[in-house]
Amino acid sequence: MRPAPATERNGSPRLCHLAETLVGYRRDGENRLRRAARVSHSADGQKRRIAVKCVSRLQPVDVMTQFRLSPSILSADFAILGEEVRNVVAAGADWIHFDVMDNHYVPNLTIGPMVCKALRPHTTVPIDVHLMVRPVDRIVPDFAEAGANVISFHPEGSDHIDRTLSLIRDHGCKAGLVFNPATSLNHLDHVMDKVDLVLIMSVNPGFGGQSFIPEALNKLREARRRINEYTERTGREIHLEVDGGVKIENIRAIAEAGADTFVAGSAIFGHHNYSEIIGKMREELAKVNTGDAR
Ligand code: DX5
Ligand code: ZN
Repeated sequence: MRPAPATERNGSPRLCHLAETLVGYRRDGENRLRRAARVSHSADGQKRRIAVKCVSRLQPVDVMTQFRLSPSILSADFAILGEEVRNVVAAGADWIHFDVMDNHYVPNLTIGPMVCKALRPHTTVPIDVHLMVRPVDRIVPDFAEAGANVISFHPEGSDHIDRTLSLIRDHGCKAGLVFNPATSLNHLDHVMDKVDLVLIMSVNPGFGGQSFIPEALNKLREARRRINEYTERTGREIHLEVDGGVKIENIRAIAEAGADTFVAGSAIFGHHNYSEIIGKMREELAKVNTGDAR
């Protein structure tokens, strides 16, 4: 189902949600959104702009706050992690992405709850824990106690997905479900009410610095469609995060496919100036909603 036309959302408090469907807009003198456009994709893959008559108020803050940058500390200097976290947050990071790998579910070994606990005093921004572990449940309470705010896991890592989602939420955290490139979004079918975040992997999990898999854009569009349909029906927001190969060059296209939260490891921590690279990413994201963006 296509997202409801903007006119149907007039008066809705979910302005951020509205902005996500718009690729171009013009404001009048009162900063009121007057005309906008959505983009549809025809069967042959061609993009087509659809004019949307729109009278909702859309403040600039609503447009800009719809996007979050979550730098992955997997690519940070592990010898000075606290300093790295402070620096990247000072440079404008919204969340800190914390990759947990167990050398079992994925072929790499990283950091656990003790490191999360050690980093917690270094920042007040949400810690976005990405569990690439199997099994999942045993370690969830440890991360909650260590100060995690969002805990995401792969359906392949849990024998009881519904139970794990509840476990995360019962411990006061937002619950996320992560989809590998070849994992079906059908895992969302019966658990949307317990999901706070959908994380689309745009690389196979296990390592930083890999190339973005283009098919992830189609998956993001499908995930956005499901989330919009759910939010229209229930009023509850669900974040759509992307992880892997996010760079200045592709972040705008990824946002236009529907992502609102962007993990970036090597692109940010591999750059000599965190403020500069985050600023450039935000410049790209700002183009997503401008009339001349396409
Ligand atoms: C990969 C991790 C990612 C990784 C992304 O398994 O989940 O979070 O850090 O790194 P980049 O942005 O370098 O692809
Ligand atoms: Zn990750």
